[in-house]
Amino acid sequence: MSRPETAPVRDPLLEHLPIMIINFKTYEEATGERALALARICRSVAMRFGKRIIISPQFTDIYRIARDGSAHTPVFAQHIDDGIGKFTGSISPLAVKEAGAVGTLLNHSERRLPIEEIGKRIKAAKAHGLMSLCFADSIEESLKIEAFAPEMIAYEPPELVGSGISVSTARPSQITDFVTKVAPSVRRLVGAGITNAGDVAKALELGADGWGVSSAFTKAKDPETILTELVRVS
Ligand code: G3P
Repeated sequence: MSRPETAPVRDPLLEHLPIMIINFKTYEEATGERALALARICRSVAMRFGKRIIISPQFTDIYRIARDGSAHTPVFAQHIDDGIGKFTGSISPLAVKEAGAVGTLLNHSERRLPIEEIGKRIKAAKAHGLMSLCFADSIEESLKIEAFAPEMIAYEPPELVGSGISVSTARPSQITDFVTKVAPSVRRLVGAGITNAGDVAKALELGADGWGVSSAFTKAKDPETILTELVRVS
């Protein structure tokens, strides 16, 4: 079942830049049937633009969303634990894989892990053919995570997450620093507070390989319109 090697997972998703990810978090608007409805909006926008949009729903929604169709909207778990077996209450990489996920988020600022644990979870993900998108709250942390060879790193200043103040306008020099210091073999995403096309355009102009968004989409009155605006400039 598991792959013996720990080489980076190769997936065409990683070749189509910019990489776009929508994190559903645990927002009520992105739970259960409402998560499925949002996933369908992501799929329809992705298909319209001929792109892929990664979506990361709650664990309990992975199966229903992946089954509904994920060719244009690859599904990532929001986290994985390490163990398979006697680990009641844990989220195993095998379980998310079998539910239909092709990758996992790790070390989001809302689900932090000690640095050595990040390395172990990346390894566990690779062993199951899952891509890892690891979050970092600083350039220093990005460089430590880079050593574990995840497929993607997302730089997100935690204080801007959910703030509506975008990383592109509040921390442009840190985006430049991030993309300069982390090797392009790892896809380098940025996120936090992105709310409009200008925020996305600026992040890409500064050299980011992709972007991540949550609240501006999941909590929007008209999520399709906002997502269309973000994807159009990507
Ligand atoms: O995972 C992306 C997320 O943390 C950004 O959140 O609400 O600031 O777009 P938000």
